Amino acid sequence: MDSHAKALAPIKERGEKAMSVQLAEFLKLYGPRLEEAFLHWLPLSDKPGTERFNKAVYYAVFPGGKRMRPLFTLIAADTVGGDPEQALPVACAIEYLHTCSLIFDDLPAMDNAGERRGRRPTHRVFGEDVAMLAALALFNQGYALIGQINHSEKVNSDFQRLMSEMATSIGPNGMIAGQIVDLRLGVNDNKRLRPVSYLKTTALMRLMLTTGAIVAGADDGQIKALAAFGENLGKVYQMLDDIVDEVEDYSATPLPEIGIDVAAVWQKANKELKVACNRVLEDLADKNPALLIEFADKIFTKIKKQAASRLAIKKWHWEPVSKEARSLQTE
Ligand code: IPE
Ligand code: IPE
Ligand code: MG
Ligand code: MG
Repeated sequence: MDSHAKALAPIKERGEKAMSVQLAEFLKLYGPRLEEAFLHWLPLSDKPGTERFNKAVYYAVFPGGKRMRPLFTLIAADTVGGDPEQALPVACAIEYLHTCSLIFDDLPAMDNAGERRGRRPTHRVFGEDVAMLAALALFNQGYALIGQINHSEKVNSDFQRLMSEMATSIGPNGMIAGQIVDLRLGVNDNKRLRPVSYLKTTALMRLMLTTGAIVAGADDGQIKALAAFGENLGKVYQMLDDIVDEVEDYSATPLPEIGIDVAAVWQKANKELKVACNRVLEDLADKNPALLIEFADKIFTKIKKQAASRLAIKKWHWEPVSKEARSLQTE
């Protein structure tokens, strides 16, 4: 059985979503491996008087959220034929950078969030001063971890490429630009659903895939294909997150009066995801993108389900993309 057929053949029912045994096994193996890695490399201080800081770092990272970015990093390594184990440090770096971005995003100077992952954001528990230093420590550790990677014989070029991908994706034309634009749109300015602010999320989602691919020794074409796919995932993800936030802000208003066609945005997101999946399937046809597509499908189906229940909407249509991908790959 070739690797594509092996990835796609055995299907196991799990609740309402079918998941291939291969994806289920991947998540079962690497979910706990990632949690160990997050703890192992957690940037804690052993200096006296740093207990509050240490607690803040721990609080920000554990128990965490969906952990989808580091899982995508490991899947990207697997997709191009590498060993996901080798990508663990960089996957961990991605989760730390993501956590850092969320600590900052929740600060009073930014979104002034009252809640993150169902509890108080880090700054509301430990103070803004400690929260900012915890975020900085996570950010710093993200870069430090790149040095932990076993780069084999391509050590210098891989290292440089990883550093440059990270700095570009986060930098003033990447996530930081997205956040600046997002803030400048203003709170009362129907700021969401504006494509210009998608960059804050597309940048990190691009990075989660390119880093996994670089560590696994992918060639330029593969890295480019995964970069484009990551950007697409980020765009679709932010569209869906924005619409949930937007509708929740008007929770007392009946949906038709909000003036946003929720179902239309939803369908557009679904369509864009399908197009992106088909493109990456074509671009990586000689590799094994099955897990990548299937994991994207799993994440987005879950988000759709959560959003629909939070907004008490039952009628949105969402077509799984992996079914389509499956038929394409077996054609
Ligand atoms: C939240 O990202 C920030 C956005 C890009 C909307 P996630 O929804 O991936 O956050 P966690 O890590 O699962 O909580
Ligand atoms: C957060 O975007 C994106 C980054 C931190 C880069 P949002 O502000 O839209 O995310 P939530 O809704 O707070 O999770
Ligand atoms: Mg924000
Ligand atoms: Mg926010």
